Amino acid sequence: MSLLISIPDSMRPNSLGSALLSLDPKLEIAIGQKNVQTPAEVEFAVVWKHPQGLLKNFPNLKAISSYGHGADGLLSDRELPADVPLVRLTDSTMAKWMSEYLLTVVLLQRRQLLEYANDPGFSEWGTAVRLPGNNIGILGLGYLGQAAAEVFLRMDFEVLGWSRTQKKVDDVVSFHGKNGLNEMLKETDYLINLLPHTPDTQDLINTKVLSQLKCGAFFINVGRGQTLVEDDLIPLLDNGRLAGACLDVFRTEPLPAEHPFRRHKKILITPHNSSATPAESVAPQILENYRRAVSGRQLLNLVDREHGY
Ligand code: GLV
Repeated sequence: MSLLISIPDSMRPNSLGSALLSLDPKLEIAIGQKNVQTPAEVEFAVVWKHPQGLLKNFPNLKAISSYGHGADGLLSDRELPADVPLVRLTDSTMAKWMSEYLLTVVLLQRRQLLEYANDPGFSEWGTAVRLPGNNIGILGLGYLGQAAAEVFLRMDFEVLGWSRTQKKVDDVVSFHGKNGLNEMLKETDYLINLLPHTPDTQDLINTKVLSQLKCGAFFINVGRGQTLVEDDLIPLLDNGRLAGACLDVFRTEPLPAEHPFRRHKKILITPHNSSATPAESVAPQILENYRRAVSGRQLLNLVDREHGY
């Protein structure tokens, strides 16, 4: 019986290994495929950006866990074993870090703080600069979306949310479906995209969608790069329809050095680090799913392969 960890070195696989062993010292853990002695003994795999085709080498896998909230990387493997259940993470620390990032960006924009970096005399001494728009529109009302909504509500923002299927979230004005999306957009000052990448969300955010936002709206993408038609964003920033954008995810990552987003004055770029996976915080749920998988019990956070998350 063993558990394989296949995640990039930058995500510190040894930290995850140690966190799991501190919860259960008897676990047999292989970090990286090269440390697997008997492939038939691997029953559970934790992966992120794993090599295509890797998982078909383990005939007795009982479940595969993504090492993040998203499962798109996992599902993009065309040789993924068809009958092995997939799970993903939902973690309160990851959600807290994400909410912190989103609040930071919204407040930077609302109080125009970055303007002072270019011009310390940006506003008259003693005069508060505070943009009036108060409506946050969140695309994706899953675990991360709901956590962010709570934070913005506590700060007295109006929170609107859109999801594929109808969701009821306390104090959030929620929308779903195509018409619901249009209704939400026209009320939104800050559009936050937290949607996963699925066949339904591919290219969803385009000129048509962004042009429905309130004039001078701000766009934040922390979901997936493939949901945004990148070429559609710049004209809307250049003609003033949108005030700015903060992008953490891109169609190609890392974002190529010559990409026009890098030079645009109204675009703030971060390197897909709005949140991260903290090993100590997620180890208990990985261990729980490992135990459930080997004993044939119902798994937590199952991925729906059809819908892509
Ligand atoms: C990060 O992108 C994640 O899906 O957790």
